Amino acid sequence: MNNQKNDHPLTKDYLTPNTGETIIVLNFGGQYSMLISRRIREAKVYCKILPYYTPAAEVFRHSPRGIILSGGPGSVYLENPPECDPAILNGEIPVLGICYGMQLMASRLGGSVERGRKKEVGRTGLIITEPEPLFNHSFFKDNDSLSCWMSHQDEVINLPPGFSVLARTESGAIAAMGDFSHHLYGLQFHPEVSHTPGGLDILKSFLYDICHCSGNWAPLNFIEQAVMKIRNIVNPGEKVICALSGGLDSSVVALLLNKSIGKDFVSIFVDHGLLRRDEARTISSVFREQLQGKFIEVDARDRFLQKLKGITLPEEKRKVIGAEFIEVFRETALSMGNFSYLAQGTIYPDIVESGADAGTATIKSHHNVGGLPDNLNFTLIEPLRDLFKDEVREVGRRLGLPEVIASRQPFPGPGLAVRIIGEVTAAKLELLQEADAIFREEIEKENFNDELWQFFAILTGIQAVGIRQGKRVYGSVICLRAITSTDGMTADWYRLPYEFLHHVSTRITAEIPQIARVVYDITAKPPGTIEWE
Ligand code: XMP
Repeated sequence: MNNQKNDHPLTKDYLTPNTGETIIVLNFGGQYSMLISRRIREAKVYCKILPYYTPAAEVFRHSPRGIILSGGPGSVYLENPPECDPAILNGEIPVLGICYGMQLMASRLGGSVERGRKKEVGRTGLIITEPEPLFNHSFFKDNDSLSCWMSHQDEVINLPPGFSVLARTESGAIAAMGDFSHHLYGLQFHPEVSHTPGGLDILKSFLYDICHCSGNWAPLNFIEQAVMKIRNIVNPGEKVICALSGGLDSSVVALLLNKSIGKDFVSIFVDHGLLRRDEARTISSVFREQLQGKFIEVDARDRFLQKLKGITLPEEKRKVIGAEFIEVFRETALSMGNFSYLAQGTIYPDIVESGADAGTATIKSHHNVGGLPDNLNFTLIEPLRDLFKDEVREVGRRLGLPEVIASRQPFPGPGLAVRIIGEVTAAKLELLQEADAIFREEIEKENFNDELWQFFAILTGIQAVGIRQGKRVYGSVICLRAITSTDGMTADWYRLPYEFLHHVSTRITAEIPQIARVVYDITAKPPGTIEWE
């Protein structure tokens, strides 16, 4: 991989919205800034997260309609608190400070902030004293009992000059403040979380009424622009290669490239044999049809099984699979002549989570392609790096991606190998695929999948006693896991009805004689993780 990628036009500001309406979120390190920008996109306004220390000139270069200061763990009265450039608060551009963002705004403009007696976390009653302009939505007019989600220790005690109180908590603390003439607003609570009813309405009031955004950003604009951009960047005759895993992101990248530069692009799908039952066949048939002649499938199932022989440690499994993937991909790519670009499906959360949102590019850390050797002299193309998962899904659907792939659940790169505890063998893979397929079929039949982030089976590696035809036998223990999540970072186990679990367990033990018991995982993340290895 050459190092030009950071300067490559596709890796920086790839997407400038043609609506000309951008909101900048300055990230003060709280876990909420991604959620804030997700909500802004939901309100159909384009937004970008920048680090809190970004100089005002750089922020203004994006011509933002408004700026949001996110929450964060800092305290304004401690030494060296995280600060934004003071020029951000000069009143030229509307600013909304959330939690720490509000405290920073208050303290820097002449108010005071103090440490509260105890940390306030959770739902709190909200009393609106000034509905205009943040709380004028019908939601607030129609609801007598309002509440909001707090997560803070510090609070604003005295307002800066020019500000007035817009809302208080039940205990009388300042929950919202505003300086109307300078368009500066602050919220002590978190409007971006689902626990604040009407939170999206507050954000919409800021976006539409205060920043005068029209809310016409849509992923459709994205497709037209991405196609134009790719055509401008890839010169005729230059070739682009795409590692297609069959997951949502790489599938959308493949379709986008096909639409932009059809004849100069090739996708490689490495079948490592570690996918769920029938998935490789589905991926193969979908892309053979959609990409017509530009889809290369490599059957590497035996190679991977050979490499996995005798390996039981989870990290070693991951390493072996990663290395073998790279080798197969490299051999295939080199056998096909010269390529100038490697396309991969990095999306916005990958960039923010890797800390690379200041404009540098990092290869998706857990991605299969994440360690291609330097001697493959490609420049990286990441056309989805400004999109969230749900936006990628919508782009995919608009590009004609069949639902079976558009709604595919997240799947680990090392596949079922990390759901087989202990050594991976062909027989164990088959066993897990069978049990997993039964669980999947039943979940989909009852439509639980609409509410679930992931659902799958794990072959635990434990043997337990069972009874078959009146005899004691030893068989495998299969674990079922079904979870809800919004981003995979935290998760909760799903309360599947007992009757449903009973039915699935009966089917699995009846249809797969090698399985003696079925158990259900009731561990949230944290303290557990989603996968078992
Ligand atoms: P954990 O197990 O860390 O998983 O709670 C969080 C999410 O990441 C997925 N996952 C992976 N994805 N390569 C990937 O592309 C991997 O090695 C990998 N390991 C876990 C997991 O399925 C869940 O959605």
